[in-house]
Amino acid sequence: MPQPVSGFSKKTKEEKIEWLVSNHLQNDALASQVLKQYWNDDEQLQKLHDGFIENTISNYYLPFAIAPNFLINDELYSIPMVLEESSVVAASSNAAKFWLDKGGFKAEVISTVKNGQIHINFYGADSLIQKFFSENKSQLLDSISAIEYSMKKRGGGLLDIELINSTKLLKGYYQLHCTFETKDAMGANFINTCLEEIAKTFEKNSKNYSEFSHLNNYPEVVMSILSNYVPECLVRAEVRCPVSKMTTNGIDGTIFSTKFVRAVKIAKAETRRAVTHNKGIMNGIDAVILATGNDFRSVEAGIHAYASRKGTYTSLTDATIENDIFIFSIEVPLAIGTVGGLTGIHPLVKFGLLLLQNPSAKKLMEIIAVAGLAQNFAALRSLVTTGIQKGHMKMHLANILTKLEATSSESEQALTYFEQKAISNNAVTSFLNQLRESN
Ligand code: MEV
Repeated sequence: MPQPVSGFSKKTKEEKIEWLVSNHLQNDALASQVLKQYWNDDEQLQKLHDGFIENTISNYYLPFAIAPNFLINDELYSIPMVLEESSVVAASSNAAKFWLDKGGFKAEVISTVKNGQIHINFYGADSLIQKFFSENKSQLLDSISAIEYSMKKRGGGLLDIELINSTKLLKGYYQLHCTFETKDAMGANFINTCLEEIAKTFEKNSKNYSEFSHLNNYPEVVMSILSNYVPECLVRAEVRCPVSKMTTNGIDGTIFSTKFVRAVKIAKAETRRAVTHNKGIMNGIDAVILATGNDFRSVEAGIHAYASRKGTYTSLTDATIENDIFIFSIEVPLAIGTVGGLTGIHPLVKFGLLLLQNPSAKKLMEIIAVAGLAQNFAALRSLVTTGIQKGHMKMHLANILTKLEATSSESEQALTYFEQKAISNNAVTSFLNQLRESN
């Protein structure tokens, strides 16, 4: 029976593993070997990684890959991608190639405003808290002047504070809705620090406000936190070309484009399809988010909320044919950064950003939106022509062969054998067994 532990965080990495192995893993010697084989010999590098989070016992590798040939706003990029799913990078590269001689991708940042809220309880008259707010707004704005000093120098800072009566949502619920520009930083720390300072000033001033004290009814701050829903931090990307040039996999351009547009319309109309459709988009987006050291959880949460903004969950992309021109576009909210956080300290993140010519946050928003659009294009292109399994199964076969420790000659024979046959774990295992027995 595993026992609880106290002081786990104080143990050395070695002691943590020892404790785990004896408490949870019946002293399995292999377990510690598995963990230690991923320790880095370079002590400095290992120390850096140990410092990112708490209680580290090993490093968890994911592949770091490149999707080349992305023409975005007339500049050529090789996009770094980090993820575990086979076929995604190949699909991205194919989509990039497809659009390379058709003018490439065009992308444009629509707005870059981020936001956070101070959530407040107040059960008195609305007019009273509104009066207090308008009398104190300039002090609230000024309360963070020291915090925003350097952000302001870079052209960012707190933009505005609004008091929102949300009592229709919840009895006694008010918000101070604060908007920010954070330039090249994702800005989570900056926004949260500002919000907590504004909240302090709000509470202090309300305690001294005679009309509240007269009624003995003060607003109370519940919490202060940024929002990962950022519909005002928005980027759009698109591709377009005459349908006559859309011929693909031997299918006529008009037929392909029409079917493609229909596939997007289905994802617009049907939530079950929309979720998978958007999942494919996130294959591209998350991979670049990870490679550039950004927070994929916040991006995921924000994007899916955006996909539901009209009351039903729907496709993030749009496709249409206008005057024989195929137009395919995406619009997504992306609160990301190219300074701060991991961007300056993780060597591979630094490399990823360098490869993208150390982009501004705006430029990175454009690149990420394009990665999502390209991924969606590649998925739909397969889905409405050859079907998705053809490409997937090739990679699946390669993974099964690796798991079965196939030699390169065995792999070659398997690739030929399974060209026209259904691939499954069982089928590949028995093929290899037969091959091995016959030798
Ligand atoms: C698989 O990771 C992603 C797809 O399912 C996306 C889609 O169906 O559009 C292929």
